[in-house]
Amino acid sequence: MAEVKKPPRVNLRQIDKIIAGYRGRKWALIPLTQAIQEQVGYIPKEVIPRIAAALGLFPAQVQGVITFYAQLYTEPRGKNIVRVCRGTACHVRGGKSILKLVRQYLDLEEGETSPDMEYTLETVACIGVCALAPNLMVNKETHGNMNPKKIARLFGGRVKE
Ligand code: FES
Repeated sequence: MAEVKKPPRVNLRQIDKIIAGYRGRKWALIPLTQAIQEQVGYIPKEVIPRIAAALGLFPAQVQGVITFYAQLYTEPRGKNIVRVCRGTACHVRGGKSILKLVRQYLDLEEGETSPDMEYTLETVACIGVCALAPNLMVNKETHGNMNPKKIARLFGGRVKE
């Protein structure tokens, strides 16, 4: 079984430094949240009031923007982000079975992160390389023409004994 790691503690000093660079600039909410996510990996919920106070916004406004943008996260994510394509081209070429296998190997449902913080599993509408369907991505790398053998090569090490 995967080792359970505690999510890293939030380094408020580091985040406050980032926020300080945007103080008073309401328009900078998105670049600020992106900067925090880039450095910390996600936007911890507890910093939302700090962001709001620095920019002169309500916390609900900050929360609303973070919720609206699918690429902003308020929970820690795995070291490896696995994205399985659910687009039509991938679907008709077995994408559903690919997703099922990846779920089994990683022991994760969509949107979940493994307890050891190694993997987060997501699905996407289209990776943009439909000719290679079915596809998935691991971080920035695309893996095309996926089949059970390739999945085993990628994630076989994750199978529970
Ligand atoms: S539908 Fe899967 S890459 Fe386009």
